Amino acid sequence: MRVLSGTQPSHDYLHIGNYFGALRQQVALQEKYETLIFIADFHSMNSVRDADERQRYTRAVALDFLACGLDPAQAILFRQSDVPEVCELAWYLSTVTPMGLLERGHAYKDKLAQGQSANHGLFAYPVLMAADILLYRADLVPVGRDQKQHIEMARDMAEAFNRTYDAEVLTLPEPQILDDVAVVPGTDGRKMSKTYDNGIPMFASEKQIKQAVMGIVTDSTPVEDPKDTKSTVFEIWSLFASADDRVEMFKRAGAGGLGYGDVKKDLLRRLLEFFAPMRERRAELEKRPDEVENVLLDGANRARAIGAPILDEVRRAAGFRTCT
Ligand code: ADP
Ligand code: TRP
Repeated sequence: MRVLSGTQPSHDYLHIGNYFGALRQQVALQEKYETLIFIADFHSMNSVRDADERQRYTRAVALDFLACGLDPAQAILFRQSDVPEVCELAWYLSTVTPMGLLERGHAYKDKLAQGQSANHGLFAYPVLMAADILLYRADLVPVGRDQKQHIEMARDMAEAFNRTYDAEVLTLPEPQILDDVAVVPGTDGRKMSKTYDNGIPMFASEKQIKQAVMGIVTDSTPVEDPKDTKSTVFEIWSLFASADDRVEMFKRAGAGGLGYGDVKKDLLRRLLEFFAPMRERRAELEKRPDEVENVLLDGANRARAIGAPILDEVRRAAGFRTCT
């Protein structure tokens, strides 16, 4: 079983929702399966229009994964642009993809709904994403719910190509929806998201993390009254507590006399303790950019060793000369 997932380099800060809802689970898969994790820098061209910024964000994603425990001896970590064969496959797929399929794409439809004109890159984005997956014959693709439609499109494209050339060369991938496991609320109670600016950053300074934690919205229940343990602050706190700790804390909350400020302080302590090894590791790696670059280049070689022979089968099926 081969697992593959991609992350767009479109940020230099990661919030704890990304960790619990994506990274932690993606990294855990390396223990069980052959795992490929790539940085989708070609995809980022639809939103990031500055070369230096793209490189900075790309480095940030690599550091995030390595800091969160991705082991390059086990999993394959690479940059999408280091295996440009993916663009060739995207072309083949585009010739069997109906316009109607892409016109139903969420990203494209949203852009039009906002009254903006979309470029071809955004319109064809699901084709490149399908190529990302199909080039490596990935069986399972762990993604957030918003990406499910793209995996379904990738299946449609694989099927269409196989049918057109009467060859079973492309494997139909299955989605694994990550954020079904845990949706982390943000400091304002809505889903934690960069878009809402309500995140608790895991790799920012302690001061910034403290600011975010102390800024979690709470109701105005007086200290002496019982507290609602379903509220945001308890929900986030629970991510860092054992079942026993939770029982104990919820008992105190129900009894009254517990201030939200105290819960936040305890949350901050637990959160910093939980992320300390990852924060240290990231700071260390940041000082060794050559080492990170070597991990990515080695990852690209390993990814290409899987992808190139598969692309050759695709070329052969369509009547082209093979390359390897
Ligand atoms: P954002 O909403 O902050 O822009 P992304 O869309 O870049 O985050 O999220 C990347 C991945 O992180 C998602 O596919 C999802 O699995 C996970 N994720 C993001 N926010 C949350 C959240 N609040 N709770 C759980 N998982 C999340
Ligand atoms: N489109 C995904 C996102 O925006 C990133 C991505 C690109 C991806 N190619 C992929 C994810 C292939 C999984 C598989 O989050």
